[in-house]
Amino acid sequence: MIQKEIITLLITPHQILYFFPLYAFLGWLGEVIYRTITRKHFVNPGLLTGPVLPLYGSASIIIIFIASLFPVNNPIFDFVFFAIFCSIIEYFAAALAETYFKIRLWEYDDYRFNLKGRICLRFAAYWGLYTLVFLYIIHPFFYNTFEYITKDVYPGKEHSITLVLLFINTAIVLDFMISAKAMKKFIVTLNKFIENYINLENDQIQQYLYKMRKPLKSFRAIRKYTDFEIRKRLEKNLSDQLTGLKQLMNDKLFIKKSSEEEFKKISHEITSNPEYIKLADYLHHDSSILDHSLKVAYTSYKIAKFLGLDYVSTTRGALLHDFFLYDWRSLEGRPYEGRWHGFKHPKIALNNAKKHFKLNKIEEDIIIKHMWPLTIIPPRYKESVIVTTIDKYISSIETVKALKNSNSKKD
Ligand SMILES: [Fe+2]
Ligand SMILES: [Fe+2]
Repeated sequence: MIQKEIITLLITPHQILYFFPLYAFLGWLGEVIYRTITRKHFVNPGLLTGPVLPLYGSASIIIIFIASLFPVNNPIFDFVFFAIFCSIIEYFAAALAETYFKIRLWEYDDYRFNLKGRICLRFAAYWGLYTLVFLYIIHPFFYNTFEYITKDVYPGKEHSITLVLLFINTAIVLDFMISAKAMKKFIVTLNKFIENYINLENDQIQQYLYKMRKPLKSFRAIRKYTDFEIRKRLEKNLSDQLTGLKQLMNDKLFIKKSSEEEFKKISHEITSNPEYIKLADYLHHDSSILDHSLKVAYTSYKIAKFLGLDYVSTTRGALLHDFFLYDWRSLEGRPYEGRWHGFKHPKIALNNAKKHFKLNKIEEDIIIKHMWPLTIIPPRYKESVIVTTIDKYISSIETVKALKNSNSKKD
């Protein structure tokens, strides 16, 4: 049976200088082989530039130290103990990365018997097994090799060997420090990338990805985390935009619908009057006087309401401003002799309106002054100014339309 050589566990600080880089390198080599086979292309694991994974180096030293505290030769005990021990370390390492770097370096969510995705039963068994192989086979082999080199191959050259080992260890520590700084920078860049992703141009995204290529290639969990966070933000942004759009449409529809309903309510008394409806029979510019009056009234109503004026009187006055029942373009059927329709129809409209409806002063002023400045006396109320302005504006549009229609008929 393979024996755990207790002596191999009692390593000196000098031996640590040898074992730390050795196991850091072997760990790196193992990961390269495993990842290159599973991903079918070369992958340099970890963040360091050199071919080392300090995590393996330091974990090995810790395992040797812990094992030296239980100098028993019991593989089952070692297996169970280190399965639990490594899982505890693994759990806290994951929790630390999640808390401080906001990153999940590995996740076992898909494995059975996992704890928050940070550790799981299968990997605990792997740790137990690895430790067993390490303590019973790998470490005794390299321990004896080291003893052989120092004592048999280069006897008395301990100082030179220490110097070389010191140099290698310093290089690893420096590499680690530079990489830790780079990792910190990477995390800032990554979070900036995730936060701004929605507003980035394609070439900016490419620049970011190029800058972060090494850690993104090395850590599958970082790629998954990045994908997840970006998707979360994209979905939120999309749903915010959709909600905003829906709200905007509802508001617009509501305002339009409610203002149309209010306008109809205000106009009802006038527009349901049989005498007033006769305006539909008289041609104005491009359609009937009724059409023209409704257009002038609705636009004036909206403006008066927006300006906080008396929009009810504005609407009623505007509806009645052209309440004359004759064809103004023909000399026949006029209630007066001769021309001058422009000057005379406000008075006629006012008389007709008074005959059928009870008017207030604003409404009267709107009707009588709507041809200003053709009729000399200026409007007295702001409401009258609105109607006379809108009347001119809408009349000019209608006249142009009528001209276009007659031209196209001629063609
Ligand atoms: Fe008019
Ligand atoms: Fe008019």
